[in-house]
Amino acid sequence: VWNANRRKCLILICRCFEVVEGLHCFCLKFKFLFLFLYLHNHLSIHLSSSMRRQSLGRSTRSVSKMVYKVVQKGKGHSKLEALFNHPLYNLPRPELQEDDWLKWEEDGYDKAAWTSDSETHPPWLRFHLGISRWELYDRKDPNLAEVTHYLATQRILNVVQKTGGTQLKLLMSFPNYGQALLKPMRQSRDAETDVNLFYFSDFERHNAEIAAFHLDRLLGFNRIPPVVGRLINMSTEIKEITTDRRLSRTFFTSPVGNMCFYGQCEYYCSTEHPVCGRPHVLEVSLATMLPDLSLAPRRSWRSPWRRSYSRTKQAQWEKDPAYCDTVKQTPPYNQGSRLVDVIDMAILDFLMSNMDRHHYETFEKFGNETFLLHLDNGRAFGRHSRDEPSILAPLRQCCRIRRSTLLRLQLLSHPDFRLSDVMRESLARDPLKRVAPLLSEPHLSALDRRLATVLQVVRDCQDHHDDIIYNDLEAGAS
Ligand SMILES: *[C@@H]1O[C@H](CO)[C@@H](O)[C@H](O)[C@H]1NC(C)=O
Ligand SMILES: *[C@@H]1O[C@H](CO)[C@@H](O)[C@H](O)[C@H]1NC(C)=O
Repeated sequence: VWNANRRKCLILICRCFEVVEGLHCFCLKFKFLFLFLYLHNHLSIHLSSSMRRQSLGRSTRSVSKMVYKVVQKGKGHSKLEALFNHPLYNLPRPELQEDDWLKWEEDGYDKAAWTSDSETHPPWLRFHLGISRWELYDRKDPNLAEVTHYLATQRILNVVQKTGGTQLKLLMSFPNYGQALLKPMRQSRDAETDVNLFYFSDFERHNAEIAAFHLDRLLGFNRIPPVVGRLINMSTEIKEITTDRRLSRTFFTSPVGNMCFYGQCEYYCSTEHPVCGRPHVLEVSLATMLPDLSLAPRRSWRSPWRRSYSRTKQAQWEKDPAYCDTVKQTPPYNQGSRLVDVIDMAILDFLMSNMDRHHYETFEKFGNETFLLHLDNGRAFGRHSRDEPSILAPLRQCCRIRRSTLLRLQLLSHPDFRLSDVMRESLARDPLKRVAPLLSEPHLSALDRRLATVLQVVRDCQDHHDDIIYNDLEAGAS
């Protein structure tokens, strides 16, 4: 209409129109987007006169309407939603029997506090009641968002130190008996772990706890309790309300006037390693608590690929390339899905570079046929510039992987979804996003790089072994 170049553009639109009619538009969306900018600036002005004169008027107008619609759809396009709508994230769940739910004697709770109406159960209790044999939560359960909203917004009633573990953790109490495990921000988000620090002396990171929850969910595992970020006023929400004398004694004001504390624990609980606010405000992660151990006991399992936790010693698996042959014959790894579950966990840990997975836990009630809890992820996401290949040893040495896991990893490596993109989008839903992105861009791109490594290891396995796929998608398989 205007010149040769622009005439070509209009021909393109007509093709696209046919494509829309033919319902085949997916990969053309971006062309539409490009054209739309052009159309918006020129076409609406010029079309009305010149195009209509060429007796194309009506169809052209409907073309531009159509283009507009497609572009709008493109703009609001969410890779995260597309991922979770994908059939691989909506596999039929195994039909759950009575003993596939983590139920316990209700006497453990103060029953008078609630009626049996589920609407009056606080979100944390509904989360507990939703735990099943195969996953910690159902991703589609709207209660999940309520749990994190509850932790992120409810008034903090009390704070005490949580014993056990080596680094500082606080136990927060909320109205309606809710509780959460708090990990404070100790170093700037972008601080990479010192290369000379061993994995067992690395700081725990609050944003790693949050990001691990999101990553585990994106992998379709649903094995990490919900974690959410929050800004708290150390003065009014810890110091002034804590009943823990050993904690309150460690508060002080730093030379620049920030409020700090260090608590009591094995590592990094000293004046030299304070947790400090700005001046009172502190970033923290809050993790949903699991049901009390007295109600739902858990079993702790030593990971077969546990590191030596020594500066000098090597673990057996580091010396013996055939190590997995032994593991495969050792109960409970010799049957069911336990071995591929440990490999799932290794993949999660490799992606986030967590070297600190010495144990994992299961709910005792479910025996050996159940999912593995991926608890305690504070030492993940310490380095983005390096990958740690040894974390993948279980996959590399055993050459086994769940089919559903492999298919999801392949999906996440596809540009239409891309792990870093869905992770960025998922993390943007955390309240701390307002302060700064939970993971910096180098950490996000490390995820894509590491995902490619995982898929390469699987391909290497396929070149040398048969029977690497554990088919959990067949009817009857769990
Ligand atoms: C935190 O609490 C202190 C003490 O009550 C108060 O002076 C300060 O303004 C509070 N800070 C914020 C950001 O709410
Ligand atoms: C689960 O595995 C452990 C360790 O191999 C074994 O001792 C136990 O008997 C198993 N439990 C069941 C219920 O099979």
